[in-house]
Amino acid sequence: MVKKTLKPNYRALWLAPTATVLVSCTGKSATPNIITIAAYGVFSSSPLLLGIAIGVNQYSLRLIKETGDFVVNVPSHEQAHIADLCGSFSGRRINKFSEFNLTPGRSIKVKSPYIVECPINIECTLWKSVNCGNHELLLGEIQMVHVDEEILSEDGMIEPSKFNPLVSFQSEYWSLGKRINKWHYTVKS
Ligand SMILES: Cc1cc2nc3c(=O)[nH]c(=O)nc-3n(C[C@H](O)[C@H](O)[C@H](O)COP(=O)(O)O)c2cc1C
Repeated sequence: MVKKTLKPNYRALWLAPTATVLVSCTGKSATPNIITIAAYGVFSSSPLLLGIAIGVNQYSLRLIKETGDFVVNVPSHEQAHIADLCGSFSGRRINKFSEFNLTPGRSIKVKSPYIVECPINIECTLWKSVNCGNHELLLGEIQMVHVDEEILSEDGMIEPSKFNPLVSFQSEYWSLGKRINKWHYTVKS
């Protein structure tokens, strides 16, 4: 293998794939909003923390800080157009729920509504925020999860034949390909 070196730039951030999620939020008195996020990751299993990075000037960041919670909605690859719309317009000017025919569902543990049309919704309270230059890392503690029954197998796991998530890779939308194996398959017989 002969490696070519590339100077670090914006493109370097998107060399590893990430999930593309829709984060719904609401301010103290504002209309609920949705922001598309590809800067998404898993951070701790105790407590259960996931993280999103939001630009410091994003409208959604202000709303999340007002209420201290948000919902991570996981779209299917067939919902790329929704992710693209929510990531191309600001909630400062439009109501993305009504403009894009999305339904706000009442969350159980948090004030932010979830997006009914997304098959997976993860209610989070803001655990900590960390300033990271022009973005802020928001760590959310998972409080409640909603999953569409239609995509669950009998053992309660998500059935990949019924749900294929939306992936971001090199600033493009992708879907998942073939299953390879379970984690640790090389060491478990
Ligand atoms: C595929 C995609 C991924 C994005 N990922 C992020 C992200 O991780 N963080 C961020 O701050 N903005 C991200 N954006 C941009 C915001 O979604 C966009 O600026 C949005 O209009 C902000 O909404 P708001 O003004 O209602 O908060 C992304 C946009 C797209 C299309």
